[in-house]
Amino acid sequence: MKRILSGIQPSGSLHLGNYFGMMKPSIALQDIGECFYFIADYHALTSVHDPETLRDHVRSVALDFLACGLDPARSCFFRQSDVPETTELAWILSPVTPMGLLERAHSYKDKVARGLDASHGLFTYPVLMAADILLYDSDAVPVGKDQKQHLEMTRDIAQKFNERYGETFKLPEPLIGGDTGTVPGTDGQKMSKSYGNTLEIFGDEKSLRKKVMSLVTDSTPVESPKPTENSTLLALYQLVASPDDYARMVTEFKSGGVGYGDFKKRLFEAVWETFAPMRKRRAELEREPSYVEFVLRKGADKARRVADGVLARVREAVGLR
Ligand code: ADP
Ligand code: TRP
Repeated sequence: MKRILSGIQPSGSLHLGNYFGMMKPSIALQDIGECFYFIADYHALTSVHDPETLRDHVRSVALDFLACGLDPARSCFFRQSDVPETTELAWILSPVTPMGLLERAHSYKDKVARGLDASHGLFTYPVLMAADILLYDSDAVPVGKDQKQHLEMTRDIAQKFNERYGETFKLPEPLIGGDTGTVPGTDGQKMSKSYGNTLEIFGDEKSLRKKVMSLVTDSTPVESPKPTENSTLLALYQLVASPDDYARMVTEFKSGGVGYGDFKKRLFEAVWETFAPMRKRRAELEREPSYVEFVLRKGADKARRVADGVLARVREAVGLR
């Protein structure tokens, strides 16, 4: 059985992009693989600097993932920092990681351009991510498209290590975004916390409605046909509507006679409906913090057992014992 691993940073509220790009495909894979999913709290230290906020975000993303269908009976779910072996492996990988590789990373440049501190941690983030993946002999890693370069870097680092020390690591395969691709935000750019264009999955009804109604469209009049190509509204609706409802909206775009306001209302209803069962489950879980903590601890015990085995092999390979 293939081992599947992925992580999500506890850095804010879950949005449609995170759900369709990473969480939904990860959850679907529970049926076919041995899954390890973790909350990347070491990574979040690069952007979240208030301890209470970090703890809140960790709690929140744990609830999100469980509410969306992560099944602790089938998947190992844990906090990254409960496996401190991760940081040891990150260090052991550092001397095999060429500076040029890190210098080419888009995400570092993007994040600094957006105002994050240009720290050593942010720069070496891909090495920590490689450690996350290689520490569990992962076969496949489901992530959104923007993480593709990080996955390539992980493979490069593993390859370099294997060349220097002999076959030690498996090369993981990226599984990019299920079938979804990049989910657009309310302004048509990639949906992302950093662009302020997100539709939150577990936000309140009023603010979600407001955000959906503020979706940027062109100014085609109600009676005229509307362009279907590159339509953010249609792209989002397709994610949450039944195939029949989606086809009906496409037809109505083409025929004209229905305004964007009506389409947006339908989009809001479909988003709200899609996540109704998850909202209910999340509210239940919120009342059981000790259960959530139990799940994470049990997950960490299992993760650590696997990590210990791999790390022993790595230490041996490099001559640390
Ligand atoms: P954000 O851009 O909002 O900060 P993250 O970088 O924390 O989101 O992404 C968490 C996961 O969700 C990653 O696997 C990422 O690839 C995926 N993801 C984020 N935004 C999108 C999007 N718009 N479309 C598809 N996947 C996305
Ligand atoms: N870098 C990922 C993100 O920002 C999160 C992450 C950290 C991750 N370690 C990972 C994803 C290992 C997959 C595998 O979304």
